[in-house]
Amino acid sequence: MNRGGEKIQDAVLITGAGQRIGYYLAKSFLQKTDYPVLFTYRTRHPEVDELLALGAIGFQVDFTSSDARGGVVKNIKKKAKSLRAVIHNASLWLSDDVIREGGGENFNALFQLHVETPYYLNMALAPLLKVSSENLTDIISLSDAGVKGVSSDHIAYLSSKAALQTLMKGFAKKFAPEIKVNDIAPALIMFNEEDDETYKQKRLAQSALGVEPGPEVVWQAVQYLMNSPYTTGTVLSLDGGRGVK
Ligand SMILES: NC(=O)c1ccc[n+]([C@@H]2O[C@H](COP(=O)([O-])OP(=O)(O)OC[C@H]3O[C@@H](n4cnc5c(N)ncnc54)[C@H](OP(=O)(O)O)[C@@H]3O)[C@@H](O)[C@H]2O)c1
Repeated sequence: MNRGGEKIQDAVLITGAGQRIGYYLAKSFLQKTDYPVLFTYRTRHPEVDELLALGAIGFQVDFTSSDARGGVVKNIKKKAKSLRAVIHNASLWLSDDVIREGGGENFNALFQLHVETPYYLNMALAPLLKVSSENLTDIISLSDAGVKGVSSDHIAYLSSKAALQTLMKGFAKKFAPEIKVNDIAPALIMFNEEDDETYKQKRLAQSALGVEPGPEVVWQAVQYLMNSPYTTGTVLSLDGGRGVK
């Protein structure tokens, strides 16, 4: 990969892959496919070093800075001749209480991360996707199943994820037929370390299947979208049957 300064081809880019779902996706691409992996991270968790050791190319970036966004695109173009897929995974899960305490900065961060960054990266990286040697190329985002419902405590967060879904549909129309553009809308995938038992039971009870599935189901959904020649402009629910509960 990138030996002797030669640019890599048909790479997969995953944002926010320094931990959890993004990390799992990056590691799965490295271990189960031949695609080179580019990833972004904000904090240097041990998982970042693991991905680098497996051959991925990482870029440290805080997407709330437009200069940093521009810088990462430049670096991606230095390393990669073409892209097979872009996966918008980086995210912040903030309640309205946290936003109120933190002021406008937190509100802006949600929209910078979930809307402005995917918009900018889609525009900037589409030329690399269009020159992939593969017939199918993809842009995939991760939104949230909560967008279908109504929340009174994550209003800003869900609004930004709803905007992400709308943005992706617009790009599906703009980039067809060369690039497929889809969103995955997950409900509970993985608990956070700090989640207590009461919270866990409440979340588990929200779906018909009632399990914490883990990141493998996101990998499966990504594989489905990347392998399908006939799916674009969709929001794929990954919610354990929340709608039939
Ligand atoms: N986990 C679930 O059950 C669940 C449910 C519904 C939807 N989703 C969606 O699935 C995706 C992955 O979920 P996850 O739980 O793995 O997310 P996560 O643990 O919160 O990881 C997201 C990553 O985004 C990075 N990030 C945050 N702010 C950033 C910024 N300003 N600039 C650059 N990177 C930034 C974080 O970096 P740091 O490491 O520095 O914090 C983090 O590594 C997200 O889009 C999420 O909304 C997940």
